[in-house]
Amino acid sequence: MSEHLTIVDHPLVQHKLTLMRQKDTPTALFRQLLREISQFLAYEITRELPMDTKTIETPLEPMEAPVLAGKKLALISILRAGNGLLDGVLELIPSARVGFVGLYRDEETLKPVQYYFKVPEAIDDRLVIAVDPMLATGNSSVAAIDLLKEAGARNIRFLCLLAAPEGIKRMKEAHPDVPIVTASVDKYLNDHGYIVPGLGDAGDRMFGTK
Ligand code: URA
Repeated sequence: MSEHLTIVDHPLVQHKLTLMRQKDTPTALFRQLLREISQFLAYEITRELPMDTKTIETPLEPMEAPVLAGKKLALISILRAGNGLLDGVLELIPSARVGFVGLYRDEETLKPVQYYFKVPEAIDDRLVIAVDPMLATGNSSVAAIDLLKEAGARNIRFLCLLAAPEGIKRMKEAHPDVPIVTASVDKYLNDHGYIVPGLGDAGDRMFGTK
């Protein structure tokens, strides 16, 4: 992708996002909306995938038809909230390989702590799409991408639902080669590292843990 930051301002995405932000939106609807929006974001983030052609036969004649080039892409969920984006994206790209990076945020330091890392083989040859709904401080996203690069990934894109300007800046400084696709860039981060106006804790809201 040529742009470092893409905001998907499609009316359906923005309408669904508004529903997600509302504090009374129930867990099941929140999860459903996240799944729906993830498909628009996936559509955008895969817009410039390299293509090849192959010869096929339609009922009428042979043709050189476009197909995706290269190895199957790797979808990496940054746990746990990343899982809320996974199913929707997998519906669009069912043959994607899937990996997980487990990081939790220390609520005092706001720094990421790793507890799990498992990614598909030949990660260096795949387009990697890392997914995490909230790009807040950027600490955990930057740390996850550090780990993916250490594992050999060279072609990484980052898909999130909401971003704070602080997180975008941090990602751009640490990983200028990683394009970001999001549905919105909100106003700022509060003292607890929450995106404002945001939607609260994405993990808690999608899993009903609070
Ligand atoms: N993580 C969340 O779930 N929400 C925020 O606002 C920031 C980080």
